[in-house]
Amino acid sequence: MKGIVLAGGSGTRLFPLTLVTSKQLLAVYNKPMVYYPISVLMLAGIRDILIISTPSAVPVIENLLGDGSQLGLNLSYAVQDEPRGIAEAFLIGAGHVGGDSSALILGDNLFHGAGFPELLRDARESLDGCTLFGYPVTDPERYGIGEVDASGRLVSIEEKPAIPRSDNAITGLYFYDKDVVDIARGIRPSARGELEITDVNLEYLRQGRAKLVGLGRGHTWLDCGTYDSLLAASQYVQAVEKHQDERVACLEEIALRMGFIDAEACYRLGAGMGQSHYGRYLTEIAYAHD
Ligand code: TTP
Repeated sequence: MKGIVLAGGSGTRLFPLTLVTSKQLLAVYNKPMVYYPISVLMLAGIRDILIISTPSAVPVIENLLGDGSQLGLNLSYAVQDEPRGIAEAFLIGAGHVGGDSSALILGDNLFHGAGFPELLRDARESLDGCTLFGYPVTDPERYGIGEVDASGRLVSIEEKPAIPRSDNAITGLYFYDKDVVDIARGIRPSARGELEITDVNLEYLRQGRAKLVGLGRGHTWLDCGTYDSLLAASQYVQAVEKHQDERVACLEEIALRMGFIDAEACYRLGAGMGQSHYGRYLTEIAYAHD
């Protein structure tokens, strides 16, 4: 399975924070936002990841993460020069996806929770068509909403419904089989001129091959698109890291636990980050990991 992080956009709701930098480079507590979606793909066992961003942000993200080999990853980069919709990721990333299945995640989405790695692995193994991930919200009229039958098959997807059929918001993580590039090539821009990922999902739904996995109790989903949600995300990560002695989206630790890098590499990456807590943590756990 190939991974794509779609980390472009204009971030207008965060102006002036995002006037000269990409949203995905802003801090969420102690690390750049883009670490969080990358961590999700890594936890799903994906090592081949394409990062798509704006012309000005791609060189900065590349400077930050390089070719990914230090994390045992294979990172590549591509530019989306205008935010022409989420589904455009599959036109830009067609060569990267090849004939493989793929996981797309939005660059400003944060997922965390007990059992999340297992849930991702199960979703990957049972993929047949597309798998979306739903999260219960109190204001469903603001989201794309999925309704499922008893077996988890999606029966409807509605964008910002006035009268929602469920409270399951469709989050910014999508698993697709090898057909997604062809399906994305077949859709037309919406009234707002974007290639909508909902139209891709609706095609899988029409084919009866769309599933929604509910992220229930014990899971957290946040996007970081507004001042308040950005702050809430930082506060969430701070609380988990300080009070549960667990790290969220610590890429080096995930690489170690997933077997992408060895203890020596983890130690070296930590030592290279000087006296920061983040770096010290890596040197402490490198050889403690069983
Ligand atoms: P949005 O939050 O919908 O858009 P935005 O990031 O440009 O912000 P704003 O609404 O404040 O102007 O995008 C969600 C995520 O998807 C975000 O990480 C950016 C990414 N995205 C792209 O990279 N390209 C696109 O064409 C679109 C629509 C979104």
